[in-house]
Amino acid sequence: MGPVLILLGPPGAGKGTQARILEEDFGLVQLSTGDLLRAAVAAGTAAGAQARAVMEAGGLVSDAIVLAILRDRMAQPDVAKGVVLDGFPRTEVQAAALDALLAEAGARVTGAISLEVDDAAMVARIAGRYTCAACGEGYHDDFKLPAVAGTCDKCGGTAFKRRADDKAETVRERLAAYHAQTAPLISYYDGKGVLERIDAMGPIDGIRQTLAAVVAQVAA
Ligand code: AP5
Repeated sequence: MGPVLILLGPPGAGKGTQARILEEDFGLVQLSTGDLLRAAVAAGTAAGAQARAVMEAGGLVSDAIVLAILRDRMAQPDVAKGVVLDGFPRTEVQAAALDALLAEAGARVTGAISLEVDDAAMVARIAGRYTCAACGEGYHDDFKLPAVAGTCDKCGGTAFKRRADDKAETVRERLAAYHAQTAPLISYYDGKGVLERIDAMGPIDGIRQTLAAVVAQVAA
């Protein structure tokens, strides 16, 4: 199987933005457990019904639900091209389960890239975020506007949406969950010798270039 990259970082760090860019630049498949969970909520599945309240409160969905959703997605054939995991793993249980799943396929984590940012700036980044309702392309009120106001650059769609968990008080809960449960994974991957750290406070294009150089090196 192709490279297995993990993007680590708090809410708003730019994991989704850069994962979509890595899809374009390196032909990888973006796997976002947040997107998969939101699809399950929208589809009204049993897992989605359980996940909904937890997500709206800014907590972490149970490892059992997330791992079931991730395993299903990883079983699809496009994953063989290589993946960029965005928002997964988020706990040490999930990280160990990923290692076991990859080992079954004779693979392992190629690189875990920590997007390093200031928490204080993340609330502003998230509060300004919206996406195209048709294709999911991400925008921001201040940092990334469509070239033509009200029209998606990617698909020409004209309807946009904002996430239910992007309220300031929920963002603070999500940041707390990140520091308590997910930040320890930085040491986990450092211990395995696959950790890379990137300053992710600059403009999107600058981070794209830094990330491209790191990915070209670790995936070579
Ligand atoms: P998830 O969807 O994964 O959200 P998150 O981790 O909170 O991350 P975000 O999507 O908010 O931020 P991002 O880092 O992707 O930033 P983005 O690129 O959008 O998870 C949501 C919920 O699902 C969780 O709270 C949890 O309940 C549940 N969940 C998901 N996975 C789980 C798991 N594995 N286990 C348990 N529960 C799970 O950027 C943000 C904004 O900033 C955008 O508008 C963007 O345009 C802009 N921007 C990006 N980069 C820059 C930059 N460099 N400068 C200026 N603006 C920028």
